[in-house]
Amino acid sequence: MRRIVALAGVAALSLSLTACGGGDDNQSSGTTEEGEGTSASQPWEGDASEVSVTTWWEAGSEKLGLEALVEVFNEQNPDTEFINAALAGGGGSQAKQKLAADLAAQNPPDTFQAHAGAELTDYIDAAQIVDISGLYDELKLRDAFPDSLIDRLTVDGAIYSVPSNIHRANVVWANPAVIEEAGLDPSQVPADMDAWIADMEKIKAAGKTPLTLGMAWTQTQLLETVLIADLGADAYNGLFDGSTAWDSDEVKTALGHFEKLLTFTDSSLYSEDWEPAMQLVVDGKAAYNVMGDWAIASFDSQNKEAGKDYIYFPVPGTDGVFDFLADSFTLPDGAPHPGGTKAWLSTISSKEGQIAFNKVKGSIPARSDLSDDEKAEFSEYQQNAMESFGQDTIVSSIAHGAALPVKMSNAINDAVAKFVEGGSSLDEFQAELVDATSGLGQ
Ligand code: GAL
Repeated sequence: MRRIVALAGVAALSLSLTACGGGDDNQSSGTTEEGEGTSASQPWEGDASEVSVTTWWEAGSEKLGLEALVEVFNEQNPDTEFINAALAGGGGSQAKQKLAADLAAQNPPDTFQAHAGAELTDYIDAAQIVDISGLYDELKLRDAFPDSLIDRLTVDGAIYSVPSNIHRANVVWANPAVIEEAGLDPSQVPADMDAWIADMEKIKAAGKTPLTLGMAWTQTQLLETVLIADLGADAYNGLFDGSTAWDSDEVKTALGHFEKLLTFTDSSLYSEDWEPAMQLVVDGKAAYNVMGDWAIASFDSQNKEAGKDYIYFPVPGTDGVFDFLADSFTLPDGAPHPGGTKAWLSTISSKEGQIAFNKVKGSIPARSDLSDDEKAEFSEYQQNAMESFGQDTIVSSIAHGAALPVKMSNAINDAVAKFVEGGSSLDEFQAELVDATSGLGQ
């Protein structure tokens, strides 16, 4: 079985991220109002004195990633002031609500963090964000990003955001000492959900928490990885175009596994964000947490060593599948400083910006034109993730906006949280998921 477990002494694998086309190394500041070949009437031309940037990279290791990006921004754009409008709450749990209110009140920030994929359709349908495909031409981004990403960004021939990074959501982060204490070999990755559950029984019997789980969006993220494991990539994709029924028996099997996994968790963490839930794994109080690879930034910031203090592997049953999400920044309609937005989009898409940011954030650059030397600056985990993204089957994350519009993801979060808290039976839960996604494939 191919694994992405990092064990001490294992050499970095050779890299195979597919490069698509030449790709210029764009490092331009983009702050001028009349860039070469552009017309002053473009929506991204105008006031560049400042840029207010809404993200949810407000605390902990995620804040460190943003800071690394802002450092490059300040170097590239000395005349544009960066205004940090970050709001606490992993997964955008609070930022998205505030953003929706600001956009509805026609009081947009200059740019905001969103996810590439279906999440953008809510903003596009409400005409709250602007087509920036012309900026892609100006900054030569079509050659810089892989086709698989450009496809996910394109809606009816238009592109509405610029990605800063690519994250993988189907990763288990584990404490090898806790696994060993239960008499298990941490280098033996369970092959599927049933094998993983059997291991958790042993860890529970040894007196440790097998799995930690936090607030609603982290619960949805766990569920989506169980769906991928049990349905496989094709049937999982079918959940979003109507070709796999949410009320099918396969989905019921996955919900049953999810219900079983909950029995290994500590319910006192259900209101916590991802980082406190992960901390029990860091501290050797729990064995596993399923989280996106922003988690590696948390381990790094606490000087933990991959292969020794922690290990990682694809959620059992999802090997060879890359559960994809990408943070992507927009130009809102009516942004007060569109020239500042252009400067931000220029920095986040530049090689320098993507390398500085992603090295700290745990993700991989969205650009596919890094040299071998540039790739070698990344951690072993990230080099493996680059390779996986180039060769695995890519599916879209529900919890992080790639698969479904915001309204549907929110409705799924509500149904999942209710089930996790014991407010619905498994049948009721499945019926609520059917309701949450009604209208798909039409
Ligand atoms: C995701 C986002 C990641 C990370 C994560 C946890 O939605 O794409 O970059 O911020 O939430 O907060």
